[in-house]
Amino acid sequence: MAYALEDEFGDIIGKARSGQNMSQGEVAKASEITESDLSRMEKYTLKPTEAQVYKLAEVLNLDGGKLLAIATEQWEPLPVQQPTKAQLEVVTISAPVGGWPVNAYLLICKATDEAAIIDTAAHPDLILEVLDTHKVNPTAILLTHSHGDHTNGLPQLQRATDCQTYIHKNEPKPQTATNLKELAHSDVISIGQLMVTVADTPGHTPGGCSFVTQTAAFVGDAIFAGSVGGPKISYEDEINSVRDNILSLPDDVRLFPGHGPPTTVGEEKSHNPFF
Ligand SMILES: [Fe+2]
Repeated sequence: MAYALEDEFGDIIGKARSGQNMSQGEVAKASEITESDLSRMEKYTLKPTEAQVYKLAEVLNLDGGKLLAIATEQWEPLPVQQPTKAQLEVVTISAPVGGWPVNAYLLICKATDEAAIIDTAAHPDLILEVLDTHKVNPTAILLTHSHGDHTNGLPQLQRATDCQTYIHKNEPKPQTATNLKELAHSDVISIGQLMVTVADTPGHTPGGCSFVTQTAAFVGDAIFAGSVGGPKISYEDEINSVRDNILSLPDDVRLFPGHGPPTTVGEEKSHNPFF
């Protein structure tokens, strides 16, 4: 299988370990693995045995079976299909930042050809090109969080599109941005005939949020296929907010993350070792 997940086994155990404030020494001791072997696993240079996967999962409060499927490259989400009768279209704009692909999206209301730009992927020129190609009218810029790989180039997009930009009230504001409208959980923004609801997903950043409409949710770096974003602020908030505000949505809701492939609520409930 062409393995396309954003995070490998080593990333997952590293995020779970640092998120729960455990040192490599502590985890190694509790898992009966040497510290040097654990370090090599986190750097992808040593593959764990099945027994080690289950032991690490137990120590790190992860789901052992789901973790094993990722460690042995047995799972990746099925390709996400655009429902044919949907009133919305999602266009993915993926561009490298510092050598790693970052996703921005257009959420298009098919009835009106109005669109929201979700994050910048630090490539405003590319986003303007895609808007042109799709012949849609941008009416809002929605920011999932303010990390530079998702917001750089924002002033250029603001000038070129004249759109209102929205960001969560608890999120640090991108330095160069002006005229930002603040959002809170459950706020609703209209994009053409689509209603987009704000869902709090903090933890990766203080005011990270997701944008949910009909059968699609744009989740930034809160959750990836098979993993989560680095829990830089609070592991507990990240896990709880994703569980409560994203994985509580219907199974067929498509999740569009800031990195890696799209997935669905159902896939993540069945396969994401953090849940
Ligand atoms: Fe981020």
